[in-house]
Amino acid sequence: MSELSHKLDESVRLIRTKVQDTPTLGVILGSGLGDFADTLEAKTEIPTSIVPHFAKSTVEGHAGKLVFGKLSGKNVLALKGRVHYYEGYSLEQVTYIVRIMHALGIRSLIVTNAAGGVNPVFTPGDLMIITSHINFFFVNPLRGSNEEQLGPRFPDMESDYDKEYITIAEKIALRLGVKTQRGIYCAGPGPTYETRSEVKMFQKMGADAVGMSTVPEVIVAKHQGMRVLGISCITNLGTGISQTPLSHEEVTATANRVKTSFQSLIAEIIRQIA
Ligand code: HPA
Repeated sequence: MSELSHKLDESVRLIRTKVQDTPTLGVILGSGLGDFADTLEAKTEIPTSIVPHFAKSTVEGHAGKLVFGKLSGKNVLALKGRVHYYEGYSLEQVTYIVRIMHALGIRSLIVTNAAGGVNPVFTPGDLMIITSHINFFFVNPLRGSNEEQLGPRFPDMESDYDKEYITIAEKIALRLGVKTQRGIYCAGPGPTYETRSEVKMFQKMGADAVGMSTVPEVIVAKHQGMRVLGISCITNLGTGISQTPLSHEEVTATANRVKTSFQSLIAEIIRQIA
């Protein structure tokens, strides 16, 4: 057995001692968006600190909990408090949650994040359905030896964000009266926000939003053949478009302001796709 499979086995064994239901859908909750996990019913919470091989989240607003629960009878696993590359972890550690989700039987993933809008028509508080991404980390979580039983050496990324899920999400948003945008998410390593020159470059590259997460998780999800929906909460406009200096407080305050519509959108999507 490979080292990764061995680690996964140990993590899953611990989780199985606490939760017996098989979740069908995973949700990774971004900065300020973690409260969605509290809306699940019949919850079992597992601090990630007790899961073997799971890296600890060090960021304020990221609690580090696996929340198992039900939504309309569907078994869901939500991660509150993802770990980021800028915390010093490897991309293997950052994406370990997606390996765990797959090992538990999950084949559909909703990834969310807080992001800066670089498309000038966006306004803070918009929810952006991700149609594709740009990996500006310049590293890839699949670098290193490949485990054929998990996925191929050279995964196709054409079907990155599931087209059917995008259509479903947009229809639901329309029905709920939740404003959404669609766009390309570009992620870099952080932890600095971008310079105004970088924001101009990202605009020229065709990005609509910029952040520090999601891309590695989606790469690993696609490696394992999972279906992915990505949603960015545009918490601020990018440097240079925004007239004020960016801060983590602004990011969490905007995420907090839109959390009711974000939560109802995610809940309805799960009802339909899980
Ligand atoms: N840039 C990068 N990451 C972010 C931003 C931003 O403007 N807002 C929230 N996360």
